Amino acid sequence: MENTQNPQQAYAMPRIGDTAPDFEALTTKGKIKFSDYAPGKWVVMFSHPADFTPVCTTEMSGFAQRKGEFDALNTELIGLSIDSIHAHLGWVQNVRENTGIYFDFPIIADLDMKVAKLYGMLQPNESETAAVRAVFFIDPDKKIRLIMYYPLNVGRNMDEILRALDALQVSDKHRVAMPLDWKRGEKVIVPPPKSLDELNARLADQTLEKVDWYLAKKELQN
Ligand code: BEZ
Repeated sequence: MENTQNPQQAYAMPRIGDTAPDFEALTTKGKIKFSDYAPGKWVVMFSHPADFTPVCTTEMSGFAQRKGEFDALNTELIGLSIDSIHAHLGWVQNVRENTGIYFDFPIIADLDMKVAKLYGMLQPNESETAAVRAVFFIDPDKKIRLIMYYPLNVGRNMDEILRALDALQVSDKHRVAMPLDWKRGEKVIVPPPKSLDELNARLADQTLEKVDWYLAKKELQN
């Protein structure tokens, strides 16, 4: 039963490390079953509060204009809002007519709020009817790797979304961690040693930039 006195507890919230909840949905590119979608690829799934609204139009245009950068990172985009498929189609067409920008990725028509509730995009103390601005970074194993939630009145930062996606992928590939504000081409953090042998090896390694034994950075070779 839903807890109406305490609406923030009404819906489960997905967490980093969880398998992305599966769903079937109608989108502007036809029906999708998420567990079968984009095999072998990353997925960035994001929600917006409503079609035909100003902040959302800037954000969706940003995703559309930078889709090539997501493609280069082996990543498919999926949008979502609690709007009908007709509203989505009208908005896509309206933005294309006004600006020439085409939302060439599926946008889920989540009128029954099924997917929004599954992904914690419906946050009742912010809005009971519109999804917040969420971004889910989902890896090729369908694991949720990073989650962003923004309120209705603040648009997201596309540079940060792409930077975070790149950081996740480089971190996975090289088994390293990324420092504050890391960007491609900058040094990365070598995970701290877990034994005295590793500690001694680290102290002897002249190639590392060491602040102390627990904080060392290195260049990546590729
Ligand atoms: C907007 O996209 O401009 C917007 C949508 C819902 C609430 C507030 C702003």
